[in-house]
Amino acid sequence: DAPAESYRLGPLEYLRRSVIEVLSKEYGDALPEVVDPMVVFSSRPEFGDFQCNVAMSLARQLKSKPRDVAERLRVGLEQKVAGMCATPLEVAGPGFVNFRLSDGYLASVIRQMMSDPRGKLNVPEPPKLQRIVVDFSSPNIAKEMHVGHLRSTIIGDTLCRVLEYLGHTVIRLNHVGDWGTQFGMLIAYLAEVAPEALTGERPPDLGDLVAFYKQAKKRFDEDPVFQNAARAQVTKLQSGDEASLRAWRLLCELSRREFEKIYQLLDVQLTERGESFYNPYLPDVIERLERKGLVQVDQGALCVFLEGFKNRDGSPQPLIVRKSDGGYMYSTTDLAAILYRVQEDRAQRILYVTDAGQATHFAQVFQVARRAGFFDPAEVSLEHVPFGLVLGDDGKKFKTRSGDTVRLMDLLERAIELARHDLEQRIAEQPGRTESPEYLERAARAIGIGAVKYADLRTTRTADYRFSYEKMLSLNGNTAPYMMYVFTRVSGIARKAAGLPADAEVCMQELVANCASEQQLLLCVTEPAEGALARQLLRFPYVLLDLERELMPHVLCEYLFELSQRFNQFYEHCPVLGAEDDSVRHSRLALCALTGYVVESGLRLLGIEVLPRL
Ligand code: ARG
Repeated sequence: DAPAESYRLGPLEYLRRSVIEVLSKEYGDALPEVVDPMVVFSSRPEFGDFQCNVAMSLARQLKSKPRDVAERLRVGLEQKVAGMCATPLEVAGPGFVNFRLSDGYLASVIRQMMSDPRGKLNVPEPPKLQRIVVDFSSPNIAKEMHVGHLRSTIIGDTLCRVLEYLGHTVIRLNHVGDWGTQFGMLIAYLAEVAPEALTGERPPDLGDLVAFYKQAKKRFDEDPVFQNAARAQVTKLQSGDEASLRAWRLLCELSRREFEKIYQLLDVQLTERGESFYNPYLPDVIERLERKGLVQVDQGALCVFLEGFKNRDGSPQPLIVRKSDGGYMYSTTDLAAILYRVQEDRAQRILYVTDAGQATHFAQVFQVARRAGFFDPAEVSLEHVPFGLVLGDDGKKFKTRSGDTVRLMDLLERAIELARHDLEQRIAEQPGRTESPEYLERAARAIGIGAVKYADLRTTRTADYRFSYEKMLSLNGNTAPYMMYVFTRVSGIARKAAGLPADAEVCMQELVANCASEQQLLLCVTEPAEGALARQLLRFPYVLLDLERELMPHVLCEYLFELSQRFNQFYEHCPVLGAEDDSVRHSRLALCALTGYVVESGLRLLGIEVLPRL
């Protein structure tokens, strides 16, 4: 039997620890103080399930040849992995040690995933549960919420879902741009076109706030008198003038309502804590910087000179924290936010999900915060999570045909409309199939929104991608509709065999638990296609742990896609319902159920709803 520890820790962690143990036993003091065991999932199936690459990296320090180190490792490891891996272990190439899990062990791990009482597929709890702030979405009041904010919202939400699933405490913050000089202009314009709004008598019906913003901007650009009025408004607002504050709140409220519709449609939870929230803390930020001797006055502005950021002429670049007119900056607010999140939220990790264009801003702000002692880098990590651009189908800037920026609501509604059209067509092609209008509505929404999300998440986060309704809604390829279809098919097979009605509620978890508790269930993964499927199922927890660290959602999409392909191969080669042997039938059924549940869990983490029928 395999060692109990290998079940408790999972195979990867167990192998890592075993490698360290063998190395210390074999080499003792000759070993460097910190050794990375370098055990990873194998890059190719012929190298087994895991490979250890440590011999190559350590040989020189151990004054030995890589193959000799690998050989001693192999011998030492053999007893430790008895029952878990096929032995003898193999040393390959310049000094790899390859591990191949035994069928019996593989079956046990699969069974363990199925019988996790939490329904969490045996995903291990991280050794340190953290308090994590995720700063995402963060559109600007009175301005258009554009596709960049859509990316931030989708990526940020997925990261939150994964971190929450792992057990961390996640604080989802919407750092909306609700303060700044543009409000002077907006309020001054409001005073012109709807003066009753400033007195609070009657809230104006602005309809489209973005259109309102454009009119105000036009007025501002054309009329110097209005410009002065707008500037005076900024000062009034900053000094806490009641009527100005009332107008400001009103504008924020109108925007908030628009944003809220989008969040509802996307099923995204966010706590709004906009820039204005940090206003009272800004003077304190400056004071702390001054106390640390970090600020200098440069042409009336307060600056911190940065390390490693140079101007063209080689002089150090400044980060302005207060303008000569006393106004604060975007960065000053971010400094205050760091302080608040560290001290009040007790965050140990803070993630900022924005477009890659803000990388310098965050690098500079993080540096100043560190030098000012706002956080202890050993305790808190600040991470910018950048993403690429959304391009049009033609590879150019994403715009409507008339050249305007695309309204997010229009974009999402269009995706739903196209999904509904596809769905109606599919239903019409199936004789006798009818669906209620409610189901159609729900399904179109799930597919349309799911398609937009998945198309975004499946691309490498840092890369640009082309937005194409046609591709994202296709039933073929790595798309949401395809993955949703895989789910309905796989879960349908499992349900049918378990004797549940085809349109039963989504109940994969229960089904998996039922399979696991079945007395006669003897999991066998002896067929190559069974083994391949089981090996992919086994990877699920590791994909999430990888995501926790690297914050790359496309890894989960790729995993699910690969899983569905291995499932197809399995289903093609291994009859499930038609298996002649009862125990084989049970076993294959359990693999189906588990596949369905993993797909469902994965899609949920991507914020995609699964449907009983497609
Ligand atoms: N409002 C900003 C924008 O639209 C994004 C804010 C990101 N978060 C932050 N803490 N700076 O570009």
